Order: sequence, then structure tokens, then C-alpha cells
Amino acid sequence: MTVTIPDFTRGRSFDDPWEAYRWLREHDPVHWSEEAGCWILSRHAEVSHVSRHPELYCSKHGVRPKAAAPLSILTMDDPEHQQQRGIVNRGFTPRQVRRLAPHIREITDEILDEIQNRGEIDFVSDFAIHVPLIVIAELMGLDPSMRKQLHRWSDDMMAGEGRGPDDPASQHSAQAALEYVEYILPLIEERRANPSEDLISVLTGAFDEGTLDTGSGTTLERMGELEVDDLIIFLIALLVAGNETTRNAISGGLLAFSRFPEERDRLIANPEMIDTAVEEIVRYVSPVLSFSRTVTTDHELCGKELKEGDKVLMLYQSANRDESVFADADRLRIDRNPNPHLAFGFGPHYCLGANLARLEVKIVFEELFARLRDIRAVDPDALHRADNALVLAIERIPVVFTPVRD
Ligand code: HEM
Repeated sequence: MTVTIPDFTRGRSFDDPWEAYRWLREHDPVHWSEEAGCWILSRHAEVSHVSRHPELYCSKHGVRPKAAAPLSILTMDDPEHQQQRGIVNRGFTPRQVRRLAPHIREITDEILDEIQNRGEIDFVSDFAIHVPLIVIAELMGLDPSMRKQLHRWSDDMMAGEGRGPDDPASQHSAQAALEYVEYILPLIEERRANPSEDLISVLTGAFDEGTLDTGSGTTLERMGELEVDDLIIFLIALLVAGNETTRNAISGGLLAFSRFPEERDRLIANPEMIDTAVEEIVRYVSPVLSFSRTVTTDHELCGKELKEGDKVLMLYQSANRDESVFADADRLRIDRNPNPHLAFGFGPHYCLGANLARLEVKIVFEELFARLRDIRAVDPDALHRADNALVLAIERIPVVFTPVRD
């Protein structure tokens, strides 16, 4: 059987990539794609190797195969990367994340109150979009009434992914970024004058401070004149990074439980399994599809000659279904342990929001299944997704459940 390997820099290639993933892992794990103009990495071993070796595969020339757009700390290498990460990390301490837990539960309950009598909804727009958006808004200290606006900005910015400059989606994307920045700028000034506990205040304070205790005994010097620019780019990255990713983990999780209803019933019967279940949802779904790196020095990988300047594209979904690491890789198994998936990346760029994302997915499914025990997708195999090569971008999931009668 011949398998066509699609151009994995194009969003539509991820509509049904499973056959191609399998073939690549088995026959050509470091595959040169003429169409994509880059190397395609499909196995767990190479994706983790590349993520762990920034000296051979760097981020500073961009982490999207066809764009060098600044994505804040995502597109930096050490030592600059570590410096900025040290700063922004202040907004993601375990304490700050824990502080949000009761509120995440409250938000989820409010949304459930609104939908529980309906019996059928669109799971994405009626449910999954809300919690990640509200959490990001809350974390940044934005007015909750800005939710709709944030939603539009975030989706428009994400929809520009991988498009040429003349594509209307790119123009919408640039316009959304501009509007968002116009909204954020006065807030930065306001929080500088009246700081509180939110991320904008914490980061504005940290960027202004001049020196910074990294927590490892070293203190960094002032970072130059770019503080506000860096902060703005980071706040753009944060809205996009924290929103569609977690939304797709929730949406994809519901599809997964609809495909494996025995696992849903098992979780409902054994709620203490939630932590391994969350990890397994994130592995099985892999909401982030791909990131790239640039080769820094000529060298060989799996018998292929990689040249300085070549791009390598890491396929996270494929790495997370690698049978040599995950037994029964195509099955959702909520007790999978250990579960060394790469859905949050690996190495120095490991997802900064991983613990927050885990907490959101955990609370959302705890509350959802506590109330709507038989909720399921009408067609678990139908994937209605947008044209996007960065995130799964599920647009809608018609679901049904037995309505709660109050
Ligand atoms: C299930 C949800 C999520 C997934 C699957 C995910 C995935 C990823 C991945 C794969 C990377 C690594 C990028 C690379 O190696 O180049 C990353 C980095 C990052 N993520 Fe997430 N993410 C999620 C949620 C979040 C949330 C909720 C936030 C923030 C609120 C966030 C913020 C970030 C940031 C700031 C980075 C850059 C870290 C660095 O470059 O040092 N992510 N994420």
C-alpha cells in the first residue's frame, strides 16, 4: 500500500493524518518533505531529542516552519530565553495557579447551570471555550466582560497561522493583534501605578525592576530598553498559547471519551483516577500539532544529513502515538502510567502553562461528569476543524445528554 505524505505545514493535512504518521514512524522517521521544505519528525525519540538539544536545534529563527514571527520566549534561545522565562514564571507559580482552582470550579458550575437542561449543545461554543478564556482573563487581571472580545482576538490571531501576508486571514490576524495591544497598553500603565496580584502587575513590576532574583542564586542585570515591547509580545503569546490549546484539550477530551465510553464510565466510577486521566487526555488529543526548530550545525540524524539552516518540524500527535513508547497507543486508557507524552513539549521550552492547563482540564471533567454523566458526541469520529497547522482547532462538536430536571 502506498501512503501519500501530506504537506504538514498546511492545516488541512491534520484532518486525518494517522495513516501518514504510522508510515513515517515505521519507514522514514526523519523525512525530507520537498513540499513542506523541511524535515518531518514523527517519532517520540527524535521529537524529544530535538526539544532537548537547543544547541543543535534552535528556536530564535522561529518555531513555525514558514514564519519567523516573534513569539516571545518561544522564539528565543538561552541565555535570553532563560532570563525572560525567569521573569514570566513569576506569574505562574504553583501558588498563583492553585489560587485559581475554586474559581475555575465556580465558572464551570455556572456554565453547567446554563446548559444542563438543554439535552443537546455544541460542546465547543457552549462549553469548552469558556473556562480557558475566563482563566486567562482572570490571570491577567482583565475585565471578565472583555471575554467575547478576547475570544475574537485570540481566534483571529490564531487563524493567521501559516498564511501568506496577502491572505485575508493574515490581515485579520494583524488587525486583531493591533486592537489587543491598544487595549493592553493603558492597562500596563494603570497596573504600573496601582499594582495588584494579577499577571500584568507582576510582570510589569518584574520588567521594571532592573534586577531579578532567578531563584537559583544568580541575579540578572537590567534587560535593556525593550521591556515594554517584550511584555506586550509576551501578553500576545499568552492569550493565544493559553486559550485555544486548553480549549482543544477539553473538546478533544470529550471526543475521546465518546469514542471510549467505557473509559468515561470508569472515570465516573473512580473519580480518584482523574490525574492519570488528564495526562492521558492530553497525550491522546495532543492539542498542539507541531512546532519547528532550525538546525545550527551540519550533522547526521537517523542516517540523514541535516544542514545548518534546515528546518525540522516536530509532529507531537505522532510522537504521542508512538507504539514503541505507548502500548495500545491509539487507545485512550485513563490509568496509563507512566505516560511520558510530549504534548507540552520537552526541555527548556517546556510549556509554562502546563500545570494551569492540567488544573483546568481536571476541574472541567470532574464537574462535567458529576452532572452530565452520559454526555457524548453525536458522531465521535466526525472532526470539524479549522484549517490550522499549529493547534487542533476543533470548531464544533454536536453533543447530547440526558437533561437535568430541576
Ligand atoms: C493543553 C494545553 C496546552 C498545550 C498542549 C500546550 C503546549 C505547549 C507546547 C508544545 C509548548 C512548547 C513549545 C516549544 O517547544 O517550542 C508550549 C510552550 C508554552 N506554553 Fe503551552 N500549552 C498548553 C497550555 C498553555 C497555557 C494554559 C498557557 C498559559 C496560560 C501556556 C503558555 C505557554 C508558554 C508561555 C510557552 C512558551 C514556553 C517557553 O518557550 O519557554 N500554554 N506549550
